[in-house]
Formats: sequence, C-alpha cells, structure tokens
Amino acid sequence: MSTPRSETPSLSRSEIPFAARNRHFKAGQEKYWYNGDPAVSAYFNALSALFPAGETFFCDSVRALRDRVDDPKLLAEVKEFLAQEAIHSREHHIYNKRITEQGYPMDKLERRSEQMQAMGRLLPKKLQLGLTIALEHYTAIISDCLLDVRGHFAAHVTPTDYEFWIWHCVEETEHKSVAYDLLRAVTSPLGFYFIRVFSLFATTLSFNAILMWHIWTLLKVDGLQWNARAWGRILHYQWVFPGAWRVCFPAWLAWLKPGFHPWQDDNREHVATWKAENGETENASAA
Ligand SMILES: [Fe+2]
Ligand SMILES: [Fe+2]
Repeated sequence: MSTPRSETPSLSRSEIPFAARNRHFKAGQEKYWYNGDPAVSAYFNALSALFPAGETFFCDSVRALRDRVDDPKLLAEVKEFLAQEAIHSREHHIYNKRITEQGYPMDKLERRSEQMQAMGRLLPKKLQLGLTIALEHYTAIISDCLLDVRGHFAAHVTPTDYEFWIWHCVEETEHKSVAYDLLRAVTSPLGFYFIRVFSLFATTLSFNAILMWHIWTLLKVDGLQWNARAWGRILHYQWVFPGAWRVCFPAWLAWLKPGFHPWQDDNREHVATWKAENGETENASAA
C-alpha cells in the first residue's frame, strides 16, 4: 500500500544529494528465495535479467548527450547516476550468474535483453534517452511500491535478497530525475513532450512483453509455464498485493501531464529512512 504523501507541484528537479555506493551483495543463493515460491521468485529473477543490458543502455544514452549541458549540478548528478547504474548492472549480472548455476537460463535471458536494447540503439540519440527516461520512470515507480511494502517484502525473502533489492530501489529513487532533467535540458519543450509520450507507450509495450517472456522461460525450467496457479500468483503479486502495476497506474498516468516532473511525487522519506537504518548520515557520500 502506498504511503500517503502530498504531491509537490513546485519541485522541478532533484533536491537530494546522492552518491554511488560500491556495494557487493550475496543475493541469489537460494532457489525459491521469495517465500519458497518458484513463481514470484521467477518474476523478480526476470526483472534481474533485464538490468545488466538495460542499465548499460541507460548509461550509454546519458553519456551520448551529457556534453550538451554545462549545469554543474546536473553534471554532478549525471556522474553519480552513471556510477550507480554501472554498479547495479555489475551486481545484477553477478546475481544472474548465481541463478544460472541453479539451472535457469539467465545467460540466455541477458542475451535476449541485449538484443532488444540493440533495436533501441538504432534510434536517434534523443529518442534513446527518451526510452531511458521512460524506463527510469518504470523503475522509480515500481521501486516506490516495493519500498512502501518493504516490511512485507522482508518477511517473505532472505535477508541477503532483501538487502540487494531494497538497495537498488533506494538508488533508483535517488536518481529518478537525472536522465529526465538531462533530456529536458537539451530538447525543446514540444519535442520533449513528444519524446516522453512516445517513449512511455513504446516502453510499456516492450517492457511488459519481454518481462512476461522472461518469466515464461524461467517457469519452463520448473515445468510451470502453463500452470495457472503459478501465473495466478504472479498476476496477484503484480496487480493485487503489493500490486505495483495497479498502485503505480496513477504515477504512470501522471507522466502524460505536460508539466510533469519525477520529484513532484516527493518520496525522499524512503531514502532518508533507509540511510538511517544503514548508518548513513543525510549528507554523507557513500564509499
Ligand atoms: Fe539501476
Ligand atoms: Fe536507474
């Protein structure tokens, strides 16, 4: 369930300082790590299969246009964004290798994700960054939903998997507007709006299609690809509880408002809470 909080219409850029944390994780050691459930574990593993290629694409699309801005605050945020996403990509690849060792074809899924990204690389650079900002919107709103229910998540997963996934959610929240602010700075207002709308619909189709395809491939290993109860648990997790796809729909729709900015949904309390729990002071640059 979403934590109630008011929108901050005046917020038009990131107001929280952040720095990459060069963390190393041991997640992915247990096969059915989500509550002993092969189906919901497959859902999260399918997401993880998307990250190494996806986050490399995000970084490349940001790098391609960062030289067109000279705002020092934005450039500093771009630097930390690139560092965070590179570490996420590295850690998810390591995680995926552990899942591969359990008998799941995560290497094949990573290659499939790369092939999908290769199609995106054929687009003009601003449209590539458009895909990035729409996918960053997805990761931000899904992360927000998981952070809202992290007590429930903690009760159903191993501590190492909890630490890994929640760290990623927090960093996605910290940098949720960086690519958005970069594209806005290098594009006319009308062009920016067009790219945003195109990218949201394009990524909604492609992201959901490949996610479902990845899940199907993973379930096949356990002979569950046609199992209605397994799919029912996944759809329940996505649409009912925690129901990220349902809960996030207003945030998905908000993207279409001409004056939208990711920080209008001011959820920085998630970051502050996690920092306090992990012994980071508010302004500390992480190691
Ligand atoms: Fe990430
Ligand atoms: Fe991100």
